Amino acid sequence: MTETNVRVLFVKRPVGWVDETSFAVVHEPLRPPGPADVVVRNVYLSVDPYLRGRMAGAFREGEVMVSRGVGEVVASGHERWKPGDLVWGFLGWEQYSVVARGEGLYRVDPSLGVPISYYLDVLGMPGLTAWVGINVIGRPEPAETVFVSSAAGAVGSIAGQLARLAGARAVGSAGSAEKVRHVLDVLGFDDCFDYKASASLPESVMGACPNGIDVYFENVGGPILEAVLGHMNPLGRIAVCGMISGYNTTQDPGVKGFAHILGKRLTVSGFSIYDHMWRFDAWQPKMAELLTSGRIVYHEEIWEGVERAPEAFIGMLRGDSLGKRVLRVGADPTA
Ligand SMILES: NC(=O)c1ccc[n+]([C@@H]2O[C@H](COP(=O)([O-])OP(=O)(O)OC[C@H]3O[C@@H](n4cnc5c(N)ncnc54)[C@H](OP(=O)(O)O)[C@@H]3O)[C@@H](O)[C@H]2O)c1
Repeated sequence: MTETNVRVLFVKRPVGWVDETSFAVVHEPLRPPGPADVVVRNVYLSVDPYLRGRMAGAFREGEVMVSRGVGEVVASGHERWKPGDLVWGFLGWEQYSVVARGEGLYRVDPSLGVPISYYLDVLGMPGLTAWVGINVIGRPEPAETVFVSSAAGAVGSIAGQLARLAGARAVGSAGSAEKVRHVLDVLGFDDCFDYKASASLPESVMGACPNGIDVYFENVGGPILEAVLGHMNPLGRIAVCGMISGYNTTQDPGVKGFAHILGKRLTVSGFSIYDHMWRFDAWQPKMAELLTSGRIVYHEEIWEGVERAPEAFIGMLRGDSLGKRVLRVGADPTA
């Protein structure tokens, strides 16, 4: 264990686009743990869009940034955990986290045959989010069309593959030619277009979905949502997972085409993964099996060093990540 802990603090609430002035990298002594506390050496940390929302409210200035992480227990005063145990949970953007009484830590099982970083994405909350949006809310029938925005992203890349496993036609939008190639050639979607290069989003959506859209897995909001609304089939379902296009804006742009919800008798369901955590234990082995059998493929971008967390996070929000961006902040004991 080290005496000094490199940490990334949240120091300024952003207005509009978040930049590096919202963060400070500090070197501080490790806080001495209490008698029942657990000290975790962080190995992987996640950067996710929802953190931008927490920077607008829940996070307090001067405190360490917190996201989901995977780490190794190095000291424990709690009977449930012992040194060497691998855990995941909400951990600080820091090399070591002192977790009060080990609360909110869950076991990582390295015998599942997938990288332990997957607990932050395809085998963790983003994976379960995609599962709920497709298999609980969208429920595509064989031969129906499922449209997924941010199709090359952490959640979208899984959602489209789950739609295909259900027998549906999976179509996506993504923000570069490279991402479109990835969605088609690696993830196996049936079609995908580059929304940034599109001269007309309604025409791009129509071209990629000639039979209309039965299920929309919504990750972005804004003009893509408006184009999709106009092309939904009657009795279609929209799983509203996220609206990243608005996370760094100060004004709600509104939604044009809301009347399609009435005219086409659409079902629009917003959902939060925190309402579905009870599914986790039954779902995780199923997803692990899909991964080890090669029926779901997953792409991670691994960045090195906790001090790069702000740059990795801001870049992800701007669209420069492919798949899931994860930080390696310490040696992986399973590698
Ligand atoms: N409901 C829940 O419980 C839940 C849980 C997890 C995630 N979410 C939400 O699900 C969505 C996807 O999350 P994720 O973790 O998989 O992130 P992600 O899709 O990997 O997010 C980053 C991507 O968003 C895209 N993006 C950024 N600005 C955009 C814009 N203005 N228009 C269109 N696309 C834009 C960029 O891709 P391009 O290059 O394609 O633009 C970027 O690479 C987010 O909205 C997130 O908040 C919700």
